Amino acid sequence: MDKLVIFSGNANMRLARKICVYLNVKLGKALVTRFSDGEVRVKIGENVRGKDVFVIQPTCPPVNENMVELLVMLDALRRASPRRITAVIPYFGYARQDRKDQPRVPITAKLVANILAVAGANRVLTLDLHAGQLQGFFDIPLDHLYAVNVFLDYFKRKSIKNLVIVSPDVGGIKAARAYAKKFRAGLAIVDKRRNNPNSTEVMHILGKVKNKNVILVDDIIATGSSLVEAAKALRREGAKKIYACVTHGILSGNAVQKINNSDIDYLAISDSIPFDGSKRNRKIKVVSVANLFAEAIKRIHKEESISVLFGSIRS
Ligand code: R5P
Repeated sequence: MDKLVIFSGNANMRLARKICVYLNVKLGKALVTRFSDGEVRVKIGENVRGKDVFVIQPTCPPVNENMVELLVMLDALRRASPRRITAVIPYFGYARQDRKDQPRVPITAKLVANILAVAGANRVLTLDLHAGQLQGFFDIPLDHLYAVNVFLDYFKRKSIKNLVIVSPDVGGIKAARAYAKKFRAGLAIVDKRRNNPNSTEVMHILGKVKNKNVILVDDIIATGSSLVEAAKALRREGAKKIYACVTHGILSGNAVQKINNSDIDYLAISDSIPFDGSKRNRKIKVVSVANLFAEAIKRIHKEESISVLFGSIRS
């Protein structure tokens, strides 16, 4: 492992440190700061010539700051002659604009995939992309991890009986089906309409939820509107305990307050995005994906398969 070097930007230092602890390596030295005008300033503090370099940086809020930090780090590293650079992006921002669904809109997911490669990434390691097919936007190898096993291990401890997995929208059916299979549970779907980027309306629930315990599963919780509206509809339809598990807890604006006042009894999120300690409360639990990433990094470094991780990893 002496050729393995891990660096981190400022987006999720805690996750990067946990990954290093699992791998028993020191976090690489790098200065990632700002010039007085706000420009990102990077100085890599150790030799990386011939090394296998991993840069950990979710592109979570502040999205643009974190994105540019990652790009500037990649540029600094590629000019220092490593053997390979992997951008480890636990949360891949800008992914929701992934098709031209209206006139004169961008496809930012493709734009970001292109920029990462231009900046110096030779490969990408990420988790629960907003849509699986985004993998095809990259012309460099991409390894896609899933948080489902981490959440499965976590919820197993709760021994929830009579369980139905619920997708809060039609787009999430595939992921919800995977959860239902792993959890050996039923499946239901919320037919959601988005009125505007920040608000949603539930039309119908497809599937039986009456007198069932449910887990809503989603890739992202941003404003919280999708989950809160879905939970309201599930309660109306007679669901008992309403759990939710979401990989990427963006939790923007007053989302935490909304969750607290909602029909959701319990929300589990991962630490792909740092959770602000001041927002901690009894309803929200953070489950770590550090071991999952650490194991994937080890396997990529050793040129081993990572598909075994889809069945076994523990949080
Ligand atoms: C939508 O396609 C995503 O899977 C999430 O449901 C959505 O991004 C959540 O956003 P919000 O929390 O703002 O409703």
